[in-house]
Amino acid sequence: MTKAMKSGFLAVAVLMAAANLPQTALAAEGGHAHIERQTWSFGGFTGQYDKAQLQRGFQIYKDSCVYCHGLKRVRFRNLFEPGGPEFPEDAVKALAQTWPNKVVDGPNDDGKMFDREPKPFDPILGPYKNEKEARAGQNGAYPPDLSLIAKARNVEYTGTWWAHPFSMLRDVATGYQEGGPDYIYALLTGYGEAPADVKLADGMQYNAAFPGHQIAMPPPLAKDAFIKYQDGKGSLDDNARDIAAFLAWAADPSLNARKSTGWLVMLYLLVTTLLLYAGKRTLWSKIPH
Ligand code: HEC
Repeated sequence: MTKAMKSGFLAVAVLMAAANLPQTALAAEGGHAHIERQTWSFGGFTGQYDKAQLQRGFQIYKDSCVYCHGLKRVRFRNLFEPGGPEFPEDAVKALAQTWPNKVVDGPNDDGKMFDREPKPFDPILGPYKNEKEARAGQNGAYPPDLSLIAKARNVEYTGTWWAHPFSMLRDVATGYQEGGPDYIYALLTGYGEAPADVKLADGMQYNAAFPGHQIAMPPPLAKDAFIKYQDGKGSLDDNARDIAAFLAWAADPSLNARKSTGWLVMLYLLVTTLLLYAGKRTLWSKIPH
């Protein structure tokens, strides 16, 4: 190696280290946390939702999240339609009738709006009628509607800048789209004691996954306060994984159909290619070329 090459390499190394500095400083200040990737049944190019997992996930929503969050883009009937949790239709109808949050309908003959029990075509509502009511009930913080949260949140890249293009290429090659559920899982399992150098504002909780690490949501699930499933089993880890999968479905309910149609289209294209090739060979076989 010549002297010039050596100093060239050195210069590149120094530049790489320098470019990395601001990012490291940001991470230390509490910017975006590193979020571990989880394995999901619906991940990659061929993955599909696991019906039993979506059913368990809905149970978590119904037993915990619904006390603060709505799910207004999901309708009760979606819970029994194909490609989702596929609960029995009668069970969903009965559930809608006893749902704690009523639907506002009207006006009636007296011109008044009134509350009524939800029907299968109605949205799954949370406890608050609007953002102001929600903030008033939650110390000024706003619990967002969870219907699209799995698409609205993602995992921020926290590695070195020079590895970023490779990481993006790998994501394209593996069909990675599960940043939302990865984040939700990390958020729900990310509560803990704040490190000594972090001063929490009033009413805030320390959370390792939340950007800035201070969140107004009290831990909805905990190691010693998780939700038991019908078979008597469960843990914080299971609960977090199942509700994250359920919210992934809520935000992308046609994934099952889309992924299976995708493969059929590929098969169709392959067969068409073979037929066209065979046709071309037959046609040209009689013509000298
Ligand atoms: C006691 C009320 C309450 C319950 C119960 C609750 N949340 Fe929240 N949640 C909040 C509040 C308040 C916020 C807004 C936090 C903030 O902005 O600091 C929030 C925010 C969130 C966010 C958005 C975080 C972000 O990145 O902005 C997600 C995701 C979330 N909650 C999921 C859940 C799930 C899943 C459950 C059920 C397992 C649940 N929450 C139960 C009050 C609640």
